[in-house]
Amino acid sequence: MSGDGILIEGVSKRYGEGDTAVDALRRVDMQVAPGEVVGLIGPSGSGKTTLLKCLGAVIEPSGGRMTVGDQLIYDGGWTIPDLRALRRDRIGFVFQAPYLIPFLDVTDNVALLPMLAGVPNAEARSRARALLAALDVAHRADASPSALSGGEQQRVAIARALINRPPVILADEPTAPLDSERALGVIRILNDMAAQFRTAIIVVTHDEKIIPTFRRLYHIRDGQTHEEAGEGRPIG
Ligand SMILES: Nc1ncnc2c1ncn2[C@@H]1O[C@H](COP(=O)(O)OP(=O)(O)OP(=O)(O)O)[C@@H](O)[C@H]1O
Ligand SMILES: [Mg+2]
Repeated sequence: MSGDGILIEGVSKRYGEGDTAVDALRRVDMQVAPGEVVGLIGPSGSGKTTLLKCLGAVIEPSGGRMTVGDQLIYDGGWTIPDLRALRRDRIGFVFQAPYLIPFLDVTDNVALLPMLAGVPNAEARSRARALLAALDVAHRADASPSALSGGEQQRVAIARALINRPPVILADEPTAPLDSERALGVIRILNDMAAQFRTAIIVVTHDEKIIPTFRRLYHIRDGQTHEEAGEGRPIG
């Protein structure tokens, strides 16, 4: 693999200790090339969210190695000083719940991150509107998040995760609240992003409409991953 993408090597995560310890990840290996969208599927409690949180530096693994882009970020301990900068600049998270800021309108929810990073407001807003249009929610650009449907809120949250063009996107059941046409629309956008910006993307999903679109899939079960070829079905 080139110096980009995601590399996970023998990553373990134990929650708690002693009798109540839970081994959520047991030496997981996974690799995502730049420009690739990979599926991660497995039963409830198998460790999917735990893996995304470790990779996104939201929680600390118990062992193993993780590389993001050309940088080793974890090797039995964090190897970079500024985890906040890693989360802010290099990881786009899409959670199952949208977590929008209630007192900002839809456009500014999406434009906030680039504004904070020093992009002029007008430019950040125009980038936000372009993404909102691509996600079929431009007509709600001036609304307050509370006035949106669950699916519309989720598409706004996806726009927010994409706007800084992070090299890595981690999506935890991003299409759960969406109808099948919009779910496929989101997957199409993630694939376009990956192709255009060489983003490495992991999508956790149970969605039977989405799973056939992946070219490569990882199954996770009892904290261990198994790779398999997917159908790679074109997205209509
Ligand atoms: N903070 C925590 N403390 C202790 N155990 C935890 C914690 N978070 C998760 N676990 C346990 O770790 C295991 C993996 O949980 P995780 O949330 O990663 O599963 P998941 O695959 O995302 O499941 P789901 O499909 O239901 O979202 C489960 O047994 C869970 O109970
Ligand atoms: Mg989960």
